[in-house]
Order: sequence, then structure tokens, then C-alpha cells
Amino acid sequence: MKVVTKVQELPSACAFVPTMGALHAGHASLFTLAKSYSENVVASIFVNPLQFESARDLALYPRTPDVDIEIAAAAGVTHLWLPNFHDIYPEGFTKLSAGPIGDIYEGASRPGHFDGVVTVVRRFFDLLKPKYAIFGEKDFQQLFLIKTIAAGVEIITAPTFREPDGMAASSRNALLTQEGRQAAAVIFTALKGADSEDQLRQMLANEPLFQLDYADFIDEVDFTHAHSGTQNVRAIVAGWINGVRLIDNMRMELRA
Ligand code: PAF
Repeated sequence: MKVVTKVQELPSACAFVPTMGALHAGHASLFTLAKSYSENVVASIFVNPLQFESARDLALYPRTPDVDIEIAAAAGVTHLWLPNFHDIYPEGFTKLSAGPIGDIYEGASRPGHFDGVVTVVRRFFDLLKPKYAIFGEKDFQQLFLIKTIAAGVEIITAPTFREPDGMAASSRNALLTQEGRQAAAVIFTALKGADSEDQLRQMLANEPLFQLDYADFIDEVDFTHAHSGTQNVRAIVAGWINGVRLIDNMRMELRA
């Protein structure tokens, strides 16, 4: 695996997996999927300041560079891209807007977050010009918004990688206490067990350590609130445990 900072050293007809590092088994599953699309798998590690709403959150974001290199190499990444800030954001760069769907749910709690995400992802695409880009379904609203700015790049959706207790893998899980990590299993249990929004909220409320932000049923086609005739219903959940923000989602009729 080559580790490079300059985009000129990267193969453009590639399968691309952008990350912010703190890699785990969920990222490894994205790299493995990328390998089935192209011999050239480019992963980036760039902790994007534009998508953090506070300097504290940015500073607290886990950074594990040595482990990241090991995980990426073992999972088939051929090129690890560690861009520097000024290559991604040259003076006078244009900041994109994620539009109104960027302001609801995750966007309501994290103002400006999705503007930062779509800006950096479009910038990656313009610099690298990958053929494919792989994103996990765990960040469902992010995936939805990235599809709106992805012209020229085929977006591949990867299923959420889950821990043995069902918890969605996330770099933020490492910030939980042992007790918090155990309590976090309530999110998956509730998503799998609930048949209505009320039931979902009730099941989440059974875990005193979980502080709810939202638990809603949406139409996954346009992110409007689901109603009785909605065909593609997805439950989306966000909240905090130990002050750590956790999100997850599940397509309703796919639960088994
Ligand atoms: O999902 C992430 O890790 C980030 O939001 C992304 C897509 C790498 C953009 O910084």
C-alpha cells in the first residue's frame, strides 16, 4: 500500500473510500467492497474541520494513525491518501450548501455539518475523479445528501457493519465507557423490535443512559416524515450516551 499526500500520485479510475480515520472493522468492510469494484482502492484520511460544529468536537475526534495504516493495508487499500488542508481548501474555495435536507434531523442538531460534508466530498471527487465511491448506510442522511452532489461518480452503498450485539460500528464508540457501550445496544434492539415511532421511543426510553435527540420514521426516497401510505419507510435514531452522539437507522420491512 502506498501512502501519499498528493492527489497526482493516485490512480483516478479507482474505487474510493473517504474516511476521517480512527478506522475499524466497519471501514474494513467498505474497503473490501471497494476491492470488488476496482483493483485500485484509494482511501483517504482527512478529519474535515468544516463538518464539526465545535472546536471541542473536532479536538475530541479520535485519531489512531498507526492502527489506521495497518487496517487499510490488511483490507486491500492500494493507496492511502492523507491530503493536507490547503490542497483540499485552497484560498477562495467554494463552500457548497447541502440544501434544506441538510438542515433537518442530524443537520438540526449539527448546524452546518452537512454543508461541510458535501463540500469536502465534492472536493475529493473533483481532485481524484474516482469511478466509484463507497459510503456506509449507517450515515443514512449523509449518504442521501452525497448522492445529490455526486455527478460523474457512481455511489455504492454498503450495509451498516454491526458489532456482535447489533451496535453499528463507529469511530465514536471508542469514546464510550464500558457501561455506556453496553447501554448503547438499546438502539439496535429498539430499531429491530419497534413497529411504530411511539414504540421505538418507548423502547429507547427504557435505557436511562440514552438521551434521545430524535427517533422518527421517514420516507427514504425524499426524507419527509413517513405516513401510512409510505412505501420505503426507514427508522432513524440519534441521541447521546456519555455525551457521545450515536446514530443508527434501519429499513422497516427488512427487519427479520
Ligand atoms: O463519514 C465520514 O467519515 C465523513 O463524513 C466523510 C464522508 C469522510 C467526509 O468527511
